[in-house]
Amino acid sequence: MITLTTYQEARDAFRRRDFRQALYDDGHHLMRGVIVNLHGDEHIARRRLENRLFRRDTFTWYERDRIPRIIDAVLAGPIAAGRGDLLPLARRTMTTLSIDVAGVDIPAGSGVDAQQVFDRLAELMERLARASTVAHATGDKQQIIDDGDMALRAFSTEFFEPSLARRMALVEKLEVGELEEAELPRDVLTTLIRNSDRLELDPETVLREVAYFPWVGSHSTSAQLVHAMHHIFVHLEHNPAHRSALEHDDTLRQRFVHESMRLHPASPVALRRATEDTALKSGRAIPAGETVAIDVEAANRDREVFGHHADAFDPERTLADGVAPWGLSFGYGTHACLGQEIAGGIEPADAIQHHLVGAVALMAGAMLRAGARPDPSDPAINDTNTTRKMWGRYPVVFG
Ligand code: HEM
Repeated sequence: MITLTTYQEARDAFRRRDFRQALYDDGHHLMRGVIVNLHGDEHIARRRLENRLFRRDTFTWYERDRIPRIIDAVLAGPIAAGRGDLLPLARRTMTTLSIDVAGVDIPAGSGVDAQQVFDRLAELMERLARASTVAHATGDKQQIIDDGDMALRAFSTEFFEPSLARRMALVEKLEVGELEEAELPRDVLTTLIRNSDRLELDPETVLREVAYFPWVGSHSTSAQLVHAMHHIFVHLEHNPAHRSALEHDDTLRQRFVHESMRLHPASPVALRRATEDTALKSGRAIPAGETVAIDVEAANRDREVFGHHADAFDPERTLADGVAPWGLSFGYGTHACLGQEIAGGIEPADAIQHHLVGAVALMAGAMLRAGARPDPSDPAINDTNTTRKMWGRYPVVFG
């Protein structure tokens, strides 16, 4: 395996069309036909299709309408109780958001029932995520993969099939003129149903694609929220007078979030396999069949690009043209993250009409304004179930 640790080589590798995805080889059958695992024309066709949904107007709708309502609903209870744990709060917010994007309905229920249904979905997503990225897992890998299979079957029966039936009925109504286009849900499942004939998508592929979104969207995003809050808390410890600015200045808070994303990429290593003999722009030869590890964490700390203090948290750092403040944390080129604008927003300079802050900075702002600070009686601890650097618990108090 060849490991790329410089920013330039990593970015080049992300753009190569003669490199195919290799991160999910161990969990392949769960990820068969899923966008992030496709290559070449098949990938381009799927991406083109899903881009119909992932447009700036959809992102703006999420940011202005849907995300604030989800955050308010999740935070209301913990704020009233005066305490909560950042990790489950982030998971709940980001899972709700991601299942919305995927097109998975939470069956209507009330009170405790609705909570139980949600917890069940989150548990299934957790198991799927673990099985699909089994390369990073500690413990018995085969057992994790088998468990992922069971989770997918349960997800299909309990969530996917009812969501599919509801959308099929809506699409039929549209076809006979009983429904307007604007009344259809704006989600991946609806987009796939309407185009499945054209792309020859079989039902199992649609199931796996729809199951992929909630876990990819919620896991990475919730981990980012906890990392960002940690950096904000550390910063406030040394600069308490900055609290008000971080509570109310979206652009400033977004810079903190992006800098945190650079230091703690949710996918610290991307894997690719060369489909033919090739060479990187740097001149490095890569033989056909070779696996290439793109060390995003190292590339994001490349001193040539991010300066001598690349390892430090500095949201005010100066960046060269074309270098994103989050480094390569959303990938780059061919498979670049489709949910990037939902999670991280856009940089103010790239805004055409509206600046988008992104779900992570929005939630950080809501928590700071509610007085969030680390719980002095219950210190945060790291997650020991993975080789990735993640927080396992992060208790906070509000008020
Ligand atoms: C902070 C949060 C997020 C981070 C750091 C992140 C990171 C990434 C990265 C690094 C990739 C590229 C993988 C590769 O090249 O092998 C990726 C792809 C992807 N992400 Fe995200 N992601 C985030 C949130 C989301 C959300 C919220 C969604 C959707 C709801 C999403 C949907 C996708 C999809 C569909 C792809 C595959 C695109 C393709 O293969 O063409 N992500 N993401």
